[in-house]
Amino acid sequence: MCGIVGYIGTQTAVNILIEGLERLEYRGYDSAGIATVTEEKIESVRAKGKLFNLKEKLENHSNFSRLGIGHTRWATHGKPEEHNAHPHLDNQQRIAVVQNGIIENYQTLRDQLKEKGYQFYSETDTEVIPILIADILKDLPGDDPDKALLEAIGKAVHQLEGAFAIAVLDAHCPEQLIVARQQAPLILGFGQGEFFCASDVTALVPHTNTVLSLENGEIARLTPLGVEVYDFQLKRLRKLPRTLDWSATTVEKQGFRHFMLKEIYEQPAVVRTCLATYLNEQWRAADHPSHSPVFLGLDPQLTKNLQHIQILACGTSWHAGLVGKYLLEQLAGIPTTVHYASEFRYAAPPLTPHTLTIGVTQSGETADTLAALEMEKQRRLTLEDDYKPLILGITNRPESTLATMVNEIINTHAGIEIGVAATKTFVAQVLAFYFLALDIAFQRHSLSLEAIEHIMVGLRQLPAQIETILEQQGSAIEALAHEFAETQDFIFLGRGINFPIALEGALKLKEISYIHAEGYPAGEMKHGPIALLDAKVPVVAIAMPGSVHDKVISNAQEAKARDARLIGVTPMDDNQARSVFDDLLLVPHVEEMLSPIVAVIPLQLLAYHIAARRGLDVDQPRNLAKSVTVE
Ligand code: M6R
Repeated sequence: MCGIVGYIGTQTAVNILIEGLERLEYRGYDSAGIATVTEEKIESVRAKGKLFNLKEKLENHSNFSRLGIGHTRWATHGKPEEHNAHPHLDNQQRIAVVQNGIIENYQTLRDQLKEKGYQFYSETDTEVIPILIADILKDLPGDDPDKALLEAIGKAVHQLEGAFAIAVLDAHCPEQLIVARQQAPLILGFGQGEFFCASDVTALVPHTNTVLSLENGEIARLTPLGVEVYDFQLKRLRKLPRTLDWSATTVEKQGFRHFMLKEIYEQPAVVRTCLATYLNEQWRAADHPSHSPVFLGLDPQLTKNLQHIQILACGTSWHAGLVGKYLLEQLAGIPTTVHYASEFRYAAPPLTPHTLTIGVTQSGETADTLAALEMEKQRRLTLEDDYKPLILGITNRPESTLATMVNEIINTHAGIEIGVAATKTFVAQVLAFYFLALDIAFQRHSLSLEAIEHIMVGLRQLPAQIETILEQQGSAIEALAHEFAETQDFIFLGRGINFPIALEGALKLKEISYIHAEGYPAGEMKHGPIALLDAKVPVVAIAMPGSVHDKVISNAQEAKARDARLIGVTPMDDNQARSVFDDLLLVPHVEEMLSPIVAVIPLQLLAYHIAARRGLDVDQPRNLAKSVTVE
């Protein structure tokens, strides 16, 4: 939610800020703005809407400042209008601030500052920050403005409640950029005589691979000479940057029309990477191995004596959690519940002993998920041993806030995902659940060694099977998708392990094409939703081999009898299914237990091609942001 970027160094800041904002635009695109310092003056340019509006405003605008901050906004407080765009300035135009997060007590602060005579020009929560800093600064000695600014920010952050990451400029400090973090991501980048900050490393990788993730309660002072990190009491901290193994091309479209399409096509490689990382190639049932078939390296305490697993997540990650539940129950034999993190926090179920809590979030920054995990951790901390907090994170961003809150993480290794619609990260999350379920199944002997090996053999075939879909079905799915460009409603049906895939297919379509879509367990249609069906509502049914195949086909027939156009996700060799469906999204024949990963691919392509045909901004759908860092 919102992206912030900052630069201090030897190059023209504006270019670096704009390039950084381009790479952060996936975090919000309601407005954008930058501020720079030249000759003891703040120059700020802001524009409503997407970044190109700001770029247009900056054309023929010469600004050679070497210090600046930028922001791309996902509106929370105040409409997406220019006067609400960041940066926000104090009344003297001395302090400029960009913020990602929410200042929960902004109304109180605003009232207090208004009483002191300050004017407000926006409806945002953020505007209180520059005014507050300026108010504190006026009472500090002015002989050393650099020192005073750090001190003022140190005092100001103590008055701010909520989750925030801020970057601050002072017109009187042309050699200093100060940033602070409290529960919203902020990464520092280290170049040669130049330093950067950004909400995500995607904005840093074109310039440097040396980064430092600021932690909660930390302030950093960036100057052309280096970076100093402090805690909120302004005690200096010693921090060591780390090296990223990403290159700038990782965050480019590489010839694809959209990032989402590129990311869909990256899935065979992602699955290969995950298998190579986690699956033990040497493991054979016949050797009666005493070690796990997977290399998760989890602390055995996490899974010992387990009686219950609870999964907390949002959106697509919640769908991955539903597949996870199926695997953990059916393979590892552990009762598992899946909760929307946003609901769990306010109506947590009664505590159960020997419970593993799994937080699933590709970004590792989703506020709802982090808050629910924190709540769960806190309510267990003071209880006896059986209830101790055992928390596992499944994330694509091991450097994220999630990683600092959990006992262990499984890194999903999907590589950066820029498209707002999650695709490859979903597949990687689902794979993480296969590995976890196999690990626990092995430890608890809930599956025979032969059954484990059988699943491992199936997993190894997935990359080639996904490639087959992409190569052989890509054009057919695109052509089919074009027929639905004007459709207004879709129903997606699945059962068992593929019910979450029906939900995911519907979510993908809704979020990028703005077509209303619902996912249902196929057997539930007759209990109400079947009333929705007529010739104008296509039904996509996932009919993969296995225990519910015939049931799904029967449910699909029921829809056909109500004139619905039937589209089947089904194996190439399934003649029964082929004769029932009007249109086919063909996939290779895989066993039921492995079918979600192949079944989701054509649904991603269908959603993508419908949205692209409708001429929509697939990578940045309206009202959404990639990383939802507000509750
Ligand atoms: O980063 P997370 O996995 O925690 O994100 C959760 C959801 O916000 C995310 O999956 C969202 O639903 C996507 N837009 C789905 O494509």
